Amino acid sequence: MVINVTRRDHSMYKHVGYRLNKDIFSQSGVLILSKDSVLNEEQIDKMLDLGILPEERDLMPPARQQPPSKQRVDTRKQMETAIEQVKGIFQNVQMTKKVPVMELRSEIIPAILDTAERPNVIALFNQLAEADDYTFRHNIGVGVIATMIGKWLRLPDTDLSVLSMAAVLHDIGKMTIPQEIINKPGRLTSEEYAIMKKHTVNGYELLKATVGLSHRVALVALQHHEREDGTGYPFGIRGSQMDSFSKIVAVADVFHAMTSRRCYREASPFYEVLLQMQADAYGKLDPAIVHTFLQHMMQGLIGCPVELTDGRLGEIVMIPTSDPTSPLVRTEGAFVDLSQRRELKIARMA
Ligand SMILES: [Fe+2]
Repeated sequence: MVINVTRRDHSMYKHVGYRLNKDIFSQSGVLILSKDSVLNEEQIDKMLDLGILPEERDLMPPARQQPPSKQRVDTRKQMETAIEQVKGIFQNVQMTKKVPVMELRSEIIPAILDTAERPNVIALFNQLAEADDYTFRHNIGVGVIATMIGKWLRLPDTDLSVLSMAAVLHDIGKMTIPQEIINKPGRLTSEEYAIMKKHTVNGYELLKATVGLSHRVALVALQHHEREDGTGYPFGIRGSQMDSFSKIVAVADVFHAMTSRRCYREASPFYEVLLQMQADAYGKLDPAIVHTFLQHMMQGLIGCPVELTDGRLGEIVMIPTSDPTSPLVRTEGAFVDLSQRRELKIARMA
């Protein structure tokens, strides 16, 4: 049940931060905001524009969501600290060949699990895409993305901790590869590439010999470059032989590598990367994991302004489950369902 409003109701803004108890539809039946959305000013503006408002009983105040101390944690600062810590840990591994499991478990993994709760994925990726300290940003980035995917797939908490650990350590074997190969701008020669590929086996050996780690953590280091169709490395195994955590980390790894600004190329915009992933994933990455990933990532673009290929400007209002990269767009006076209008696409994020 929604109340129709005919004029701007400024009292509605006091509900910023409230969580919706139910889906909100426009008068023409289009889903505007889904249950569990946390209201911000733009969303309230949107509802006022459409002349709809939820009732008080459909709104849950912020106090009943998360403890305030948790909400106040500055995600950006938390991530920068985690990146610095992981840098120290990895450099230490390079010298000692030992993985400090306790340090990872007490400091890095809680920060990653906490960040994976946050809804603002685009701000997080802009931060993780910065060019400096690529290797360490990449490990934290893949850790956060893989953990988010694990949550979306509703993995139990015990599995999530193992998955986070596996994702943070997936490239630990790179610490055994000469740094001039790791940091080389441009293409590697075939000899250099053969050496680079060894980071999988080397990482596996290192993690397998580490006391207190699940064997799955070592398996992810070994398998994260394997592909469903058997075209990956080091062994060219098929999807049926891969651990499911390796499949999740493979998706997170491909996505983070595509969004990142390396020294030799610019990062691609968020939406283009999602489209590219959808195209490239066919036959290579686990389709169910990619679908879940795209569906949730696209939710982060609801409310974003876009320009369509016919020049019209609009705003993303809904993500269809069947085809998440073809959203419903509200333009001046009309809703355009891109999943039904194959001739139209998003030209750019406006
Ligand atoms: Fe890797």
